[in-house]
Amino acid sequence: MIKLSGIFLCLASLQIYAQSTLPVIPVPVKTQVKTGQFIINDQTVIVDRNGREKASVAFFNAYLEKYYGFKLRVVEKAGRNFISFSTKTFIKAPADPEGYTLAVSPLSVHITGDSDAGTFYGLQTLIQLLPVERATELKIPAVAVEDYPRFKYRGAMLDVTRHFFDIEYVKKFIDLLALHKINTFHWHLTDDQGWRIEIKKYPKLTEVGGCRNGTIIGRYPGTGNDGQKYCGYYTQEQVKEIVQYAGDRFITVIPEIELPGHSSAAIAAYPQLSCFPDEPTRAAPKTAWHGDTIRKNVQQAWGVFEDVYCPSEYTFNFLQDVLDEVIPLFPSRYIHIGGDECPKEAWKRSAFCQKLIKENNLKDEHGLQSYFVQRVEKYLNGKGKTIIGWDEILEGGLAPNATVMSWRGEKGGIEAAKQKHDVIMAPNSYIYLDYSQRKAEDSVTIGGYLPLQKVYSFNPIPKELDPEEQHHILGAQANLWTEYIHYPSKVEYMIFPRLTALSEVFWSPLKNKSWESFKTRIPVQFKRYELWGVHYYPALNEPVK
Ligand code: ACM
Repeated sequence: MIKLSGIFLCLASLQIYAQSTLPVIPVPVKTQVKTGQFIINDQTVIVDRNGREKASVAFFNAYLEKYYGFKLRVVEKAGRNFISFSTKTFIKAPADPEGYTLAVSPLSVHITGDSDAGTFYGLQTLIQLLPVERATELKIPAVAVEDYPRFKYRGAMLDVTRHFFDIEYVKKFIDLLALHKINTFHWHLTDDQGWRIEIKKYPKLTEVGGCRNGTIIGRYPGTGNDGQKYCGYYTQEQVKEIVQYAGDRFITVIPEIELPGHSSAAIAAYPQLSCFPDEPTRAAPKTAWHGDTIRKNVQQAWGVFEDVYCPSEYTFNFLQDVLDEVIPLFPSRYIHIGGDECPKEAWKRSAFCQKLIKENNLKDEHGLQSYFVQRVEKYLNGKGKTIIGWDEILEGGLAPNATVMSWRGEKGGIEAAKQKHDVIMAPNSYIYLDYSQRKAEDSVTIGGYLPLQKVYSFNPIPKELDPEEQHHILGAQANLWTEYIHYPSKVEYMIFPRLTALSEVFWSPLKNKSWESFKTRIPVQFKRYELWGVHYYPALNEPVK
């Protein structure tokens, strides 16, 4: 017995040793280090027996070519020096369809996915085992990995409204998500400071709503206004290209079309969307404005604005038309409808809104927001789509089938799960990557303090939930708002290494998660960022509080 437990302890410590020494992030469910190594050189071939693994093969060869300067031949079979990609076929799909195994021996590498996505994730683990310096012979330790994700929703949001990022950069961002086994890209496409998606029936949305006449300089309220016209939007063809690009990396794109608040850009384009179409747009308090002050305008500073969509038939028809063009572009089951930060002042002083509240026996303006969201939900449900909304959609009553994205801490998510609604956890207290990651931050950020270790400590399952309620937590998401993020290198500086820490939060089983182990693995990841040519903050020793 003593002997047996000694052997067991020895095996268990080997396993922990493997988990902590192999520089794989997110740490897999099970890793066994074997003896020897496999060497990839330009004679190594990829075996894709059925020609089915095109997505993984293309990603791998593009990666090898970009970072090591060579790519591999693809064959149907080989006896030695090969990397085989294969995907199991099932009569009944497995419970964890994103799982895979990876077996590396001195003779071969086998990646076997439970689905095409699983095979792709096996490849991502293989990539993590590659050297972080450019070389012509890539040595990989012999290992046996079994792996599958903790959460089925693993997301990251990029705000392209406050600052615009062109499709080339959006593709790079998506590649970075793929390398972290993240499977959802939430694209924040409309807001007060810009409308960024072409809608053919309403060309002014991008002609007018896609541009602002200036932007405040520096941290709110700023030291002035740059007076520069700032424009940008994606054509529907570009949107299709992004959706395809993401799909090839097993990433679903969820568009966000904000309503009823954060709608200044749409209102600037079509003032009838406001309850007060003739009132000029008001600048954010204490900020400098550039240009026209007598009409509706796209906002030039950050914040929450009172001029919101009026719940009129004109607005509902407009939104339905917009959604009719959005839906076919995005195969995603979900459409994000925003729902956050909608001030009620305009609705309070609108005779039309007050009459609507009475006629529909609504309690107040929160009831009116719920009425608004439920009408849109009904329309989208009728088109086979499910809505996601920020946690404010709980106020005034949840729409029957809505999924809640909890951002003001975890409270909204807990409440929604208790109401048996699905939840995506995105609490600002852990995953708002626009917050400062160090105390002595010398670039302008929105503020806050969210160091790496705090991010790493996040558990998307709140302890307040019983097992059945926990089931409603689909997963979690990192959010990057871009008020103070003007260009790609700052995107990367803000997300790395915190997004890497979150990939482990999203993917790895709790029992394998360890800050001490993560700390030993992250220096290799820093070198990998350098190989990729991405910016990062070499954070490791920031205080948690
Ligand atoms: C949010 O940060 N307003 C969702």
